[in-house]
Amino acid sequence: MTLGTQAQTVTVRVPGKINLGLSVGPLREDGYHELSTVYHAVSLYDTVTVQPSDSWSVHASGPWGEEVPTDERNLALVAARTLAKRRARKAKVHPVRIDIDKHIPVAGGMAGGSADAAATLVGCRELWGLDHLENDLLEMIAASLGSDIPFLLHGGTAIGSGRGEHVTSVLARGELHWVLWAGEGLTLSTPEVYAECDRLREAAGETPAAPQPGGALMTALRRMDTDEVAAALHNDLQEAAISLQPVLAEALAAGLDLGARAGLVSGSGPTVAFLVGSQTEAIDLSVGLAANGPTGDIVRAVGPAPGAQIIHQRTSPEPTRARPDTDRPGPLGPVIG
Ligand code: C5P
Repeated sequence: MTLGTQAQTVTVRVPGKINLGLSVGPLREDGYHELSTVYHAVSLYDTVTVQPSDSWSVHASGPWGEEVPTDERNLALVAARTLAKRRARKAKVHPVRIDIDKHIPVAGGMAGGSADAAATLVGCRELWGLDHLENDLLEMIAASLGSDIPFLLHGGTAIGSGRGEHVTSVLARGELHWVLWAGEGLTLSTPEVYAECDRLREAAGETPAAPQPGGALMTALRRMDTDEVAAALHNDLQEAAISLQPVLAEALAAGLDLGARAGLVSGSGPTVAFLVGSQTEAIDLSVGLAANGPTGDIVRAVGPAPGAQIIHQRTSPEPTRARPDTDRPGPLGPVIG
């Protein structure tokens, strides 16, 4: 037997996202809405570490750690287990312990849960040595778990179509500066926001058309002109999010009064993203919002940011088995399958 090395822990950094444009089309038969969106990953990161363990578990720390469900519903845990089932038949996988350092707001419209799932897929692929697993297959598994997860593997700025899971890069040079406001104790359920959008449209007698990517936004992103991007930002879910959480209108008005070039609800909300022209403007706005805006967490971020990336791994020599003829579990815990 040759003595190789084997990853013992893998740490992956993954960004949150905002939607620079979000056009929501009709409700489909599968319960999703057809949409056209421009995803934009920003430099507000969760860090996810996976390591072999005797059993499957997830643990959360960091500013939003207490809000993370650590039971079977946790999307990172679901992602790890799904990847374990979809591996090639010969590959041996072990249960993992997942540790999430949570900085992306929970249930905030920034795809924080999806981000952790994307990071877990990347981390477990490395940990389990599933190098043969093509990116396409990883993206298919990602899409089966949630509409935003393929984008969080990808990062940058990209168009999302279908229910959001089909991702195509957008040519966007340069950076955009953001101030993100997450209201204290404020959460929104994504299905409820989509349902409210349908309800408001029905009440207004509107029938949604097939969603299209906004041409003005694409042009503005190619030039990366902040004011042009500001004028083209758009979110069809914003009215519904405000209808469910009216304080969002107050936060938007406060940010605009304090000099933001534009403000919009991120995805299904309730995080609000303010576009500013520079880091100095970002500092001024965050100080102003903290003093004069509704109570909330305020962070500065820059986009576009890269997708889920391994930032650290620790390896150790591959373990030799003391009693190779028995089925005693090795130091990595029980082998599945
Ligand atoms: O795909 P994901 O699990 O993130 O979606 C959560 C919920 O958001 C869906 O169950 C659906 O109610 C709503 N949704 C939608 N149309 C989309 C994406 C999400 O209606 N394109």
